Amino acid sequence: MPSPSVAARELAELEAIENERARRAAREDPVAFARLLTLIGKDGRAVPFRPDPWQCDVLRYRGDRMILNIGRQSGKSTVLAILSLHRAIYVPGSLVIIISGAQRQSDELLRKVMDFVSRLKVRPKLSEENKRSIEFDNGSRIVALPANDSTIRGFSAPAVLIEDEAGEVPDDVHAAVRPMLLRSSGRFLMSGTPKGKRGHFYETWERGGEEWQRVRLTSVEAAAGDEGRLAWLEREHADLSRRGLEDIYRQEYECAFIDAASGRVYGAFDEDRNLVDELPQTDELAPWTYFLGLDFGITDPNALSVLAWRPYDPCVYVAESYKLKGDALTVGEEVKRIETRYRFSRIVGDTGGMGKGFEAIMLERQHIPIEAAEKHNKAGYISLLNGELRTGNVRVVRSKCKALIDEWLQLSWADGGKKEGTGENHCADSVLYAWRATNAHHPQTRERRPVTPEEKIASFKKAEERMWSAVEARGDASARAAQGHSWLERLEGETYGDG
Ligand SMILES: Nc1ncnc2c1ncn2[C@@H]1O[C@H](COP(=O)(O)OP(=O)(O)OP(=O)(O)O)[C@@H](O)[C@H]1O
Ligand SMILES: [Mg+2]
Repeated sequence: MPSPSVAARELAELEAIENERARRAAREDPVAFARLLTLIGKDGRAVPFRPDPWQCDVLRYRGDRMILNIGRQSGKSTVLAILSLHRAIYVPGSLVIIISGAQRQSDELLRKVMDFVSRLKVRPKLSEENKRSIEFDNGSRIVALPANDSTIRGFSAPAVLIEDEAGEVPDDVHAAVRPMLLRSSGRFLMSGTPKGKRGHFYETWERGGEEWQRVRLTSVEAAAGDEGRLAWLEREHADLSRRGLEDIYRQEYECAFIDAASGRVYGAFDEDRNLVDELPQTDELAPWTYFLGLDFGITDPNALSVLAWRPYDPCVYVAESYKLKGDALTVGEEVKRIETRYRFSRIVGDTGGMGKGFEAIMLERQHIPIEAAEKHNKAGYISLLNGELRTGNVRVVRSKCKALIDEWLQLSWADGGKKEGTGENHCADSVLYAWRATNAHHPQTRERRPVTPEEKIASFKKAEERMWSAVEARGDASARAAQGHSWLERLEGETYGDG
């Protein structure tokens, strides 16, 4: 092999010196550190990472409260990943906590960190690495947590607390994480794209006070000089405007907190994106699982919604959603009728208020166990459901869900976005109850619902036992004994009798 020319050798030496200098500078200057990292380019090869000017500002910010309101796909998560990594490598024993609207998003940010680590020329030693956390052998840790306050309570004193997609983090989770900083005086970095004039992300941006360093950048500003991205944004803008979705453009790409008071509650529902003609074909490797959501009404109609999903498919489908006038027995008869078709894994309903009466009657007289629907933080979950509508992960069978579609199109916010305005929300609520029960907004934790007849019976048994306990707790001790046979026995006898 010919020896390299003198010029080439000198160049290589210069580069080595340059690299050595950069490595030394990296400790002091996160921007120098960022320049040691690589990204995977379009051709699949690693290319040097060059932080954009605004990313440099974020990396060099020394204060302890910063909030980023920046358009989609501008590099927010990337810069937070670099910041986390810099801290973990250069300050031994640092704990960096990442929370996000959904576990999937926190995992994604952690994956960005890990990708950078794996391509570093001089790699930091890791003592442990899994999907949810990275532990360095200097004692630092970066942990990705779900937006779920029970998990979060176990951690304390992070050096850096990152809320990515902060507009999607429920307010109660935000409230639960803040005290973690009490003992560490750590840094709190919030980042996201607006999700309406509501919630802590909006409040902090608008009224968080001087102590928050604010960074605002539209997607067009972030794409300055990149013709390809600018052209794409222009096309997206034109497309959304044509479909009357200018607000979505303003929110996603122009950092606008859109006043939800005038907006639709299920504003992300889009007839082109979220409707299907029928449930897709499936096979025994990916069987459907069905949940039933119930919303009860006395003068109002009741609503029934059937949700369906299957393995290997990120979508949750609304197979049917309709209203039904009548008392608890009427609803019960209807549930029994459709149960023969769907064999529900769970039946979830609004068992608070007058729903209690429905629950008791349906249990005692028709032996149908209904689980109490999760109802806290309704607005937060509506916002999560909107997120899933926006990505097309929620789909609705057009011909069987007319009432739901009408509600989703008509229901608007009132009172400055604090509550739902006039207009019916029965189908919408019944879908929300069942959808929350699927845990679809946390795909990793989506419940592995019972699929075998045995598991299904076990799950009903548990639900029924809980219901009877509730009946007895109300002082109705003889109800259970007076019961001839149970819903469960009916299931065992009729549905699975020979199985
Ligand atoms: N300085 C940079 N140079 C080149 N590519 C970059 C840079 N910063 C980020 N990227 C790339 O841009 C894409 C979007 O980055 P990232 O996911 O961090 O954006 P985001 O603002 O968090 O997006 P979203 O709003 O969807 O969460 C990624 O492919 C990332 O690798
Ligand atoms: Mg991101």
